[in-house]
Amino acid sequence: MSLEMAKKIAAYKAVDDHITDNLVVGIGSGSTIVYGVQRLAERVISENLNLICIPTSFQAKQLILDNGLILGELDRNPTIDVAIDGADECDVELNCIKGGGGCLLQEKIVASCAKTLIIVADHTKNSEYLTEKYKKIPIEVTPIAYIPIKNRIESLFGGDLKLRMGGSAKAGPIVTDNGNFILDWFFDGSPTTDFDGINREIMMIPGVVDTGLFIGMAKKAYFGMPDGSVIEK
Ligand code: 5RP
Repeated sequence: MSLEMAKKIAAYKAVDDHITDNLVVGIGSGSTIVYGVQRLAERVISENLNLICIPTSFQAKQLILDNGLILGELDRNPTIDVAIDGADECDVELNCIKGGGGCLLQEKIVASCAKTLIIVADHTKNSEYLTEKYKKIPIEVTPIAYIPIKNRIESLFGGDLKLRMGGSAKAGPIVTDNGNFILDWFFDGSPTTDFDGINREIMMIPGVVDTGLFIGMAKKAYFGMPDGSVIEK
C-alpha cells in the first residue's frame, strides 16, 4: 500500500470514530488532513451532519470551503470538540513534532482550544521518541529576532538552526500565515531528552512565537500501515 493510501485510511478511520452530529471540528494542515476533510464532506452529505469547521491555516480554510463545509472561527467558536491534524512525528506518549508545513502556530492554538486532539498519519510518523526519525523541530519566530534566537538555542541545547527558505535559489525566507519566519532546529534527541523542559525554555526566549513541539496535547493517534490496517495509539 502506498503512503498516500496509508494516510487516507488513517484519516478516514479517525473521522469515522470521532465525528458525530453537532460538533465544532478543528481542521489541521498538511497532506493527510486532506483525506480527513474528504471524509467529513462525504459524511456531512450522507448523514446530514451539522459541523462547524475551524481552520489551522490558509490551506485548511481553502479545504473547508472547497469541500462545502461550514467555516467557523475561534471568535465565534472558541471551544472545539474535536481537532484532527497530521504530525511529522508522534512518540509513544503521543507527544508530537509538527510544523513541517509551517502552520504550527495556528495548529497549536486550535489544538489548545480542543477538548480532544486526534493525530492522523502514515506509519512513517510513528516513533518511540521525538527526533528518532524526524530530525528537525520547527520554531516560528518574529523575523527581526531570528539570529539571536538561533544563537541562543544553539548555545543552550546544541544542534543547528536553519532559516527555512523558499523553494528556489532566488526565493527568500518562507513567511508563515502569521507573517513570521520558521527556524528548523536540527537536533538529535534521545529517549531520555526532556522535550517538555526544552520547549518551556525555548518559549521564554523573546521573539519565539511558538514551537512545533506538541507535548501532552494529543489524545489519540491513527497510523495507516503498509498492510492496509490502521494502528491506534
Ligand atoms: C503542518 C503540519 C502537518 O500537520 C505535518 O507536517 C504533517 O503533514 P502531512 O500530513 O503532510 O504528513 O504540522 O504544519
